[in-house]
Amino acid sequence: MKALVTGGAGFVGSHLSERLLAQGAEVVAIDSFTDYYPRAIKERNLDELRGNDRYRLIEADLNVLDLREVLTGITHVFHLAAQAGVRKSWGRDFRTYTTLNVDATQRLLEPSWGCPSSAWCMPPVRPYMATPSRCRCGKTRWCSQCRHTASPS
Ligand SMILES: NC(=O)c1ccc[n+]([C@@H]2O[C@H](COP(=O)([O-])OP(=O)(O)OC[C@H]3O[C@@H](n4cnc5c(N)ncnc54)[C@H](O)[C@@H]3O)[C@@H](O)[C@H]2O)c1
Repeated sequence: MKALVTGGAGFVGSHLSERLLAQGAEVVAIDSFTDYYPRAIKERNLDELRGNDRYRLIEADLNVLDLREVLTGITHVFHLAAQAGVRKSWGRDFRTYTTLNVDATQRLLEPSWGCPSSAWCMPPVRPYMATPSRCRCGKTRWCSQCRHTASPS
């Protein structure tokens, strides 16, 4: 398995990354270190992860990063990047929430459109987790035109 974990420096994403590595997966994590809570806490979340040669952290915003490139070779996507907090989400900070939760999710899903006619596709998506099963085209486990190369374990 080669997993992409968004929000990888966060509480859930970092623990999930540890578990995935323990199970033998390769992990690519993305995090933009938003200021929702102190960066130092997120850095501590990464203590067990940094230095593992199957782990790579990309510090970037999902709303900016070239996701097509990052998704190449990824077999599983765990989308945990978010701005949490129900009460804070309404009012003055509303735009922050729509940007980090809605826009970023849409941008992550965007590459799945157009398969199989486009050059590649993402696996089908379930809430919180995208696991590979069948391509939208229904032909094979992976779309023949998909750039994914690794078989899921
Ligand atoms: N922690 C919990 O107990 C819990 C419970 C239920 C659901 N959840 C949900 O799980 C998800 C993750 O929760 P968490 O507790 O790990 O939150 P968290 O704030 O610790 O982690 C989220 C991470 O996402 C990053 N991030 C946000 N927007 C980003 C973007 N556009 N690009 C890149 N990185 C970005 C942040 O920097 C942060 O490190 C949230 O959707 C949350 O609502 C959490």
